Amino acid sequence: MNVLKYKMHFKPKILDQRLNLLFRSCHSEKRKKPSFDPIGFIQGNTEITANHMTPEIKLHLITPRCALWDSRADQCPVTDPFWAFYWPGGQVLTRYILDHGSVVKDKSVLDVGSGCGASAIAAAMRGARRVLANDTDPVAATAVKMNAKLNCVNLEISMDNLIGQGFHQWDVIFLGDMFYDEEFASDVSDWLKTLRHLNPSCQILIGDPGRFSFEEHPAKSLLSKVAEYELDEVCRRENNGLTVGGVWTYNPTRRIK
Ligand SMILES: C[S@@+](CC[C@H](N)C(=O)[O-])C[C@H]1O[C@@H](n2cnc3c(N)ncnc32)[C@H](O)[C@@H]1O
Repeated sequence: MNVLKYKMHFKPKILDQRLNLLFRSCHSEKRKKPSFDPIGFIQGNTEITANHMTPEIKLHLITPRCALWDSRADQCPVTDPFWAFYWPGGQVLTRYILDHGSVVKDKSVLDVGSGCGASAIAAAMRGARRVLANDTDPVAATAVKMNAKLNCVNLEISMDNLIGQGFHQWDVIFLGDMFYDEEFASDVSDWLKTLRHLNPSCQILIGDPGRFSFEEHPAKSLLSKVAEYELDEVCRRENNGLTVGGVWTYNPTRRIK
């Protein structure tokens, strides 16, 4: 099956169900050859592109010009290369950060599920004091490192699973397109609830293109939309059925239950 189609070519609810399956396999062991070289793999199978909603940032991504775009998933030496695509929720969140740099200036920022690292890179570009890009996929960690270098920014990188952990030192936390699975969405929102108890002043920013698991989640009633962007043509084409993306934050006037 086409790696890209596998991820994207479905209408929102169906897409989310599909992503559900992907997510489960995302947590299975990566298919790596013993001599797997993530840098060589990324260099050889992606192209550097700025053809997305944040052209200020160059990224190594799998595009239609790359051989893997038309490959079956079992032909790809890594499982679920989520980092090789720039997800619509991440694109709108990153656009927001670039357009509203004061949100991160001089702040400590955690980008959970960093993927290609675009949101973390945007925070560093806009003068964040400290940025930690976190993704449990080790190939994503390499991609983030390479993308940070490409954009001349320094990031800290972590592959720990922080979801459920009691970290509370961050001024701002990003979640770009992390509500793609119903069960995972609940884990994430339980964790965010705990973090908000520990550190009520932490600003949590969520980018989401209207995925079912986000729209239907009870925690959504605690959020306010701070921005909405129309997805650009490339993003719409690659994410069949999605047209806009929102950036959300917890509304301080709504009580934590
Ligand atoms: C849908 S992608 C979003 C990537 C990026 N934020 C974007 O919008 O382009 C989700 C990412 O979350 C990562 N991920 C999944 N579970 C995670 C966890 N528990 N902690 C950190 N990252 C995780 C995946 O490896 C994947 O790169």
